[in-house]
Amino acid sequence: KPAKHIHMSERETWATRAGFILAAVGSAVGLGNIWQFPFKTAQFGGSSFLVVYLIAVLGIGLPAILAEFVIGRKANLNTIDAFEKLGYRNWRIVGVLGLATGFWILSYYSVVGGWVLRYIAGSLTGAYFGDPAAYFGQVSAGMDALVLHAVFMALVIGIVALGIEDGIEKATKLMVPSIVVILIALAVWAFTLPGAGEGYAYFLSPNFDALTANFTEIVPFAVGQAFFSLSLGMGAMITYASYIDGDESLFSDSLTIVVLNTFVGVLAGLVVLPLLFAQGIDPNTSGAGAVFVSVATAFAELPAGNILGFFFFVVVLVAALSSAISLLEVVVSWAVDNTSYSRPVIATGLGSVIFALGIPSAWDTAWLTWFDTLAYQLLLPLSVLGILVFVGWVYGRPALAELLKGSNAGEGLGLTWLWTARTVVIAGVVGTLILGFQTLFV
Ligand code: PHE
Ligand code: NA
Repeated sequence: KPAKHIHMSERETWATRAGFILAAVGSAVGLGNIWQFPFKTAQFGGSSFLVVYLIAVLGIGLPAILAEFVIGRKANLNTIDAFEKLGYRNWRIVGVLGLATGFWILSYYSVVGGWVLRYIAGSLTGAYFGDPAAYFGQVSAGMDALVLHAVFMALVIGIVALGIEDGIEKATKLMVPSIVVILIALAVWAFTLPGAGEGYAYFLSPNFDALTANFTEIVPFAVGQAFFSLSLGMGAMITYASYIDGDESLFSDSLTIVVLNTFVGVLAGLVVLPLLFAQGIDPNTSGAGAVFVSVATAFAELPAGNILGFFFFVVVLVAALSSAISLLEVVVSWAVDNTSYSRPVIATGLGSVIFALGIPSAWDTAWLTWFDTLAYQLLLPLSVLGILVFVGWVYGRPALAELLKGSNAGEGLGLTWLWTARTVVIAGVVGTLILGFQTLFV
């Protein structure tokens, strides 16, 4: 088809290697790092859990992100057509699954992004200071949530409409450093709070009993969190890698991304847990809403809570936005490669469909929970599994060659990657999948 060829030759690329890395870090660093990671770490045994998580991230997450990068960079096409380009037309189904997963996740992620917008304003006006729990109940569902869901989605559409270099790359180059700088400043401030020591202890003191007592729950959680946190199984990393121009070491790029992503999670813990302990607030982890309420309660009670709360929620917003744009880009990339509509028209059209899919989640948080459970326990691991089986067992040797391009790593390291992906990583995904099935259907 000549038309497709014309589009391909005009395909956009990242202006710089750092641009690609920062965009990928922006995708990875999100609500998962700031909301889930600190609390789960504390609950599952502090630094003991951290060790398990690091093993999961380096042993399973890293090989998996490399698999997505290999597909994307080799094909230079969207997450569906990439499989055909590599010579396996039928495997496009894996791309379809990833794209659908991203579509699905963005629909409710945007609703949470809307809540964050509300909390930024609420910090400045002090709107949640009187009764944080009642405030959450009021703004998290119904018309309020719907309007802010629309605003958040409009921001996402605006950035993606500007394109890879002028939109996503420029935005994330500003966003990711801002996240790190503001979080460091907040962590320094949190250090000065009276209960800080207790917060650190709760977050990081090793607790092997907590670890061993819940081992069968903790290991799959660590693996699942590694995948979600690295934005795997949503087509995002395949799509971002498809805009790489030239060959660079995928090994060192991935390592940078993985390290920065984990660093931000730890940093968030060093902010959030001292904050809660300073106010004697029980770090309740059940449900997305609980975290909003407990953190808001802490800000409401602290001197200068307005300003600090404002900066904290700005960080959360920026983290959520830079993740959301990577998901919209997955679908937009597919439409740009396959139709002759302009990027802004495509971004607006598809963004609107995703907005519509999120309406139930905005209307009632029970829907949001249902959407999230389905994505997290079923769609995501299935999609990651498909990618790994494809790269490891179907595509195989050419994947190895692509991985080694632009890197001075030897064949040995490449083979280690291939065999890890083929065995350990696949076993890890199957494990989380089985566990997810149990909670979903048994
Ligand atoms: N890595 C993201 C996070 O931790 C996951 C994600 C990416 C979610 C893109 C939604 C959109 O939040
Ligand atoms: Na992000």
